[in-house]
Amino acid sequence: MPKQTIRDLELSGHRVLVRVDFNVPQTKDGAVSDDRRIRAALPTLNYALEHGASLVLVSHLGRPTGDPEADKPFRMDPVAARLAELIGRPVRKANDTVGPDAQAACAALLPGGIVMLENVRFNKGEKKNDPAFAKQLAVLADTYVNDAFGTSHRDEASMVAVPECYGPDRRAIGFLVEKELKILETLLGSPKPPMVAVMGGAKVSDKILLIKNLLPKVEKLLIGGAMTYTFLKAQGHSTGNSRVENDRLTEAKELLELAGPKLVLPPDHLVGSSLGPDAETKVVTGPDIPEGWIGFDIGPAAAVAYGEVIKTAGTVVWNGPMGKFEDAPYRKGTESVAHAMAASSAVTVVGGGETAEAVEQFGVADKMSHVSTGGGAFLESLEGKTFNSLKVIPDR
Ligand code: ADP
Ligand code: 3PG
Ligand code: MG
Repeated sequence: MPKQTIRDLELSGHRVLVRVDFNVPQTKDGAVSDDRRIRAALPTLNYALEHGASLVLVSHLGRPTGDPEADKPFRMDPVAARLAELIGRPVRKANDTVGPDAQAACAALLPGGIVMLENVRFNKGEKKNDPAFAKQLAVLADTYVNDAFGTSHRDEASMVAVPECYGPDRRAIGFLVEKELKILETLLGSPKPPMVAVMGGAKVSDKILLIKNLLPKVEKLLIGGAMTYTFLKAQGHSTGNSRVENDRLTEAKELLELAGPKLVLPPDHLVGSSLGPDAETKVVTGPDIPEGWIGFDIGPAAAVAYGEVIKTAGTVVWNGPMGKFEDAPYRKGTESVAHAMAASSAVTVVGGGETAEAVEQFGVADKMSHVSTGGGAFLESLEGKTFNSLKVIPDR
């Protein structure tokens, strides 16, 4: 059932608490290094403002520890400043989340005004989904909108207990959550065939449930990244010094059996002698990585073969870089998959923190049908999980 959206709400003269996911990557000195999640929330924020509402924005940033000194980099100030630039309006940053400064800033809001509360995880009640803390947040506005898709898998106060404080006609999802849910529904329900999944990244253990849930729906599952070597080892091949999860070999073997010919391992590899600028690299053909070498990327033949499959697909879903793309010598596999998807006429969906970053870095994010703002939320959705944060928003 589709969820009630911000379109269904009376907004004029209302003060709307919007839970956004502005948990953005930061530079060492705290500046916003990637504002994709902020830009993704703009349609909802602009819509509410254009319809006569004022906004109280709440988000977490990072994983604060509770030590005010150590947590300084997690203050929302740089995020509020970037939002002000992007939205072209002043954003009043409150110095607390539910305390006197937040209360005063919210009370002073006029239609068209924006308050950004301090990092909601500075409050112990947030992670505990504490109803008393939720009440303190909820009194700051008369309406609740969840546009924080990236946090939707977390049972935290601002995601679950806060919306429960509002009447059913005063809670809804925003445009970003609506868009993400629609894409997921298509992927899991009625994807344009043939559907292909491209899966890579650091660990097979992160992706087991995902692979299991996607297998019956896909024609092909193209594997890259470090998980390749756990699969190869499970098949009895040598993996050199590549990253292998030795405690997952049995599960990897089971997955290989379950998937049969659907699961495709790269026919060649780009290997390095070590990590670092002086390392030697070479292409290894076949499933065995020589002693002393590390598999860091899919090889050129794999890149071509995967590109061909992507070209003729109806739907492609991609999670997990094909190699250690952050290091220039090992970016080619990930880059070529990104370009193949960008050029394909298939419905192309990219998700996962690093995968989305890679697609941005290679300048092809706009050529995809959708780049999810979710990391864990995207993966857990594809695993078939449902979230309490969405259950508390009424159906239409
Ligand atoms: P996502 O965040 O998109 O879900 P993951 O977190 O699963 O992706 O994995 C991303 C990380 O995997 C990247 O930082 C990348 O450097 C690493 N990675 C991919 N392939 C390899 C490899 N062959 N060896 C070591 N690390 C790898
Ligand atoms: C994310 O970046 O995946 C979300 O913002 C959730 O953050 P968390 O993993 O710290 O809960
Ligand atoms: Mg990641």
